[in-house]
Amino acid sequence: MLSRFARPATVAARRQPLVWSVQRRGFASHQDATYPQVPYEKAKKVGNKRFSQFDLEGKVFVVTGGGRGLGLCMAEGLVEAGGRVHCFDQAPRPPKTFEEAKARAKDGSGGTLEYHQVDVTQNDALEECIASIAAENQRLDGLIAAAGIQQVTSALDFKKEDIMKMLEVNYTGVFLSARACARQMLNYKTQGSICLIASMSGTIANRGFIAPVYNSSKAAVVQLTRNLAMEWGRMNPDGSGGIRVNSLSPGHIVTPMVEENFRRGEANREQWEDNSMLGRLSTPEEYKAAGLFLLSRASSYMTAHDMKMDGGTTAW
Ligand SMILES: NC(=O)c1ccc[n+]([C@@H]2O[C@H](COP(=O)([O-])OP(=O)(O)OC[C@H]3O[C@@H](n4cnc5c(N)ncnc54)[C@H](O)[C@@H]3O)[C@@H](O)[C@H]2O)c1
Repeated sequence: MLSRFARPATVAARRQPLVWSVQRRGFASHQDATYPQVPYEKAKKVGNKRFSQFDLEGKVFVVTGGGRGLGLCMAEGLVEAGGRVHCFDQAPRPPKTFEEAKARAKDGSGGTLEYHQVDVTQNDALEECIASIAAENQRLDGLIAAAGIQQVTSALDFKKEDIMKMLEVNYTGVFLSARACARQMLNYKTQGSICLIASMSGTIANRGFIAPVYNSSKAAVVQLTRNLAMEWGRMNPDGSGGIRVNSLSPGHIVTPMVEENFRRGEANREQWEDNSMLGRLSTPEEYKAAGLFLLSRASSYMTAHDMKMDGGTTAW
């Protein structure tokens, strides 16, 4: 029955909504084309392996910001599962933390850890280094984009150059890293997985912690995730594509970045602990399994998702 507010529609107007919805969602083109579907990669040899879906043997990964902190720890997680991992960071020589992790990597998982001096804001160097890693291995399977910087300054005092620097590393650097890796995954037809490190601070303003640009740069990473996932998720007729993109949003982690906040008196440790439902801060090791999950076929049906691991901080 027509409601008393409804007007009788013309034939053309009645047809239009259907046409619009078909075009908007792209159904028409997907029905017309013979789209190959992203294959679910079955285990080749499970043997007596436990949780073979997490096995990364023979797979090749890039981790930016992998010289220390969260990036390095997540890189170690991939190595422990058998991955061949290339860490990018700014320092010309690998930091001591990296050398220690590399020594641990020799303990028989089959995985390897390599260091490259690459600034993620330098597009040509980034593209070149990622292309040469992919060419050497004839594949690239994934990226963890963890390079990031932070600056605690009030919005009224933030210098324009500092805003641009922060966005250049935290947003543009993540974009460029993801794009350079996706280019090689498409090139070598590997159905890779990308994990962009965002933050719970991309969703909330941390009470009392004055970091307006950092927080909004992380919100941008969460939104970038959805858009890249949309662009690269489908298989192409030539067998490339099927790339998954997710973000990981950690809560407060005790890394050199955060230790610096405490040292400078920019953050109150007790208050941060109290903000978490678990009553404590996290350690980088607690994100290793999440990184492995996101980059392995254990998460094969997960894309465009922001995975929060924040001890419940954003939930109350
Ligand atoms: N520590 C936390 O509480 C926390 C919480 C949520 C998210 N994060 C995010 O996790 C990521 C890692 O942070 P962290 O706490 O380990 O910090 P960190 O400072 O200990 O490590 C960051 C690494 O990124 C590198 N880096 C910075 N700029 C770079 C550039 N232009 N090119 C290449 N490398 C660059 C640094 O040299 C450093 O090794 C960051 O994206 C950060 O925003 C951290």
